[in-house]
Amino acid sequence: MRLAIKPLKNVGVEVSGFDINRPIDEALKAELIDVWNEHGILLFRDQDVDPGKQIEFSRIFGELEMHPLKATTSDEYPELFMLINDPKKEKYMTASYKGEVRVSKLDWHMDLHYTGKPNRGAILRSVVVAAEDGLTGFADLARAYDALDRETQQLLEKIEVVYAFSMQRKHMRFVDLEGYEAGPFSPRKPSDMNFPNFPEVAYPAIVTHPVTGRKVLEIAEQMLDRVVAPHKAGLSNDEAVDLLQRLVEHTRNPDFHYFHQWRDGDMILWDNWRAMHCTTGTKPGIARAIHRTTIMGDVALGRVLD
Ligand SMILES: [Fe+2]
Repeated sequence: MRLAIKPLKNVGVEVSGFDINRPIDEALKAELIDVWNEHGILLFRDQDVDPGKQIEFSRIFGELEMHPLKATTSDEYPELFMLINDPKKEKYMTASYKGEVRVSKLDWHMDLHYTGKPNRGAILRSVVVAAEDGLTGFADLARAYDALDRETQQLLEKIEVVYAFSMQRKHMRFVDLEGYEAGPFSPRKPSDMNFPNFPEVAYPAIVTHPVTGRKVLEIAEQMLDRVVAPHKAGLSNDEAVDLLQRLVEHTRNPDFHYFHQWRDGDMILWDNWRAMHCTTGTKPGIARAIHRTTIMGDVALGRVLD
């Protein structure tokens, strides 16, 4: 093993011991992939990266995917998805949480989950660090599964959960809506963001990771809607709602979380089939830019409902 691995807080690891600007041979590529599969969340620091290097490095982990939102990709590098907080445009991403105004705050989710075919992974690179806040949180749902009691694990083997795409946070059933108010310019329907109307999707509550074989608790609070046919698992409708509430609470346990405070040039690679993520957002008037490359998923983990 040539790579150096240092645990992050609770979940994920910092990986060093290589230089992205020197040739990465097949053995080192295999090591990087193994570490990714083992730990799910990898932080790389102090690498001298530009967009071309980020794309080339990302390809070690699989074929890259273009995001359905064309407006936010780069013309020069179509593989780059740009997450940009521009104080001039932030009104569309502004909302109020318990009296505090936040820009670009996002609940726990997995990317492209609403399509039934989430991408395998992604790399975020910090390009403009927010002067304050702007953290990205990662949660290891394989660890969350491991920590469930045996009875719950067995019950969940019989359950599918539905995710309902929505642009309006107030319509999401399991996010914390206490003190939440959408901003006056918040998008109201998918077409406001040039999104299509995504149909609902159903996932097994426990997904077996197609590569590592680990069991993953497929519960991310954003857009989580309901249990499919609860009576088939011996649950009443009310019990099904309580179960999802309990599982969402379980995933909020900080033991499964790592919140990253970005520094210039930091890169994080995560396994989107295993880890969910969120952002704390910033106060208004703060610039922030992150470049994302997206590693394609070649397996549908969920099914689209008609
Ligand atoms: Fe995301």
